Amino acid sequence: MELSEAMRSTGTCRYFSDKHVSDDVLRQAFDDARFGPQGGNRQPVRWVVVRDDATKKRLAELYLPYWEAYYAAVQEGSKAVGAVPKTVESANEFARHLGEVPVMIVVCAELDGLHPTDHELGRLSVVGGASIYPTVQNLTLALREQGVASALTTLLCAEEPAVKELLHIPDGYLTAAHIAVGYPRDGFPRKLTRTPVEDIVFRDSFDTPMFA
Ligand SMILES: Cc1cc2nc3c(=O)[nH]c(=O)nc-3n(C[C@H](O)[C@H](O)[C@H](O)COP(=O)(O)O)c2cc1C
Repeated sequence: MELSEAMRSTGTCRYFSDKHVSDDVLRQAFDDARFGPQGGNRQPVRWVVVRDDATKKRLAELYLPYWEAYYAAVQEGSKAVGAVPKTVESANEFARHLGEVPVMIVVCAELDGLHPTDHELGRLSVVGGASIYPTVQNLTLALREQGVASALTTLLCAEEPAVKELLHIPDGYLTAAHIAVGYPRDGFPRKLTRTPVEDIVFRDSFDTPMFA
């Protein structure tokens, strides 16, 4: 599959078919994903593949209160989202059936393998994630290439202690995302909604659009 097409059609899938995702397919995706860059090539990312129904159900139970709080905030207008109402409703369905997704992949990262350079700026630190999420995006693209869809989620990261206990994730590791994986029930999106290049790229100075 052409890379540009993969990038443009790896949307968030919230409805999966029952088709089994084989270990071979997952292995291929992990094998491609690991070539993502990380600071100092420390390679902090670890994955826990959850297929066990009871474990998925527990993860879903932990997720639901966070989704419900988020959903309530969106409905009362106190949480701004770019997603259209239909997407919010499908995210609501997804939350209520999260325990039934074919595979849940829990993304872990070794804390000592992260090197944040922005943690003393008095604002939200994000640089540590730069050694994690390129590899995560590689995984979603490598799955897409094989016809497998995914939904990257982070709401459950708030329940990290419980998730670590459930999955026996050792001290020294954090959880960075939870990815629902499966064959898409309705195929892949043809056109994702994203801000045009004209609005997001600047030449030399932030006040000079490059492609206006
Ligand atoms: C960092 C991040 C966190 C996300 N967390 C959640 C989540 O917890 N639950 C959920 O349903 N979707 C989650 N999403 C999916 C986004 O809502 C989705 O990407 C967005 O609505 C755009 O949809 P699209 O990718 O299909 O165009 C997350 C996406 C990202 C990149």
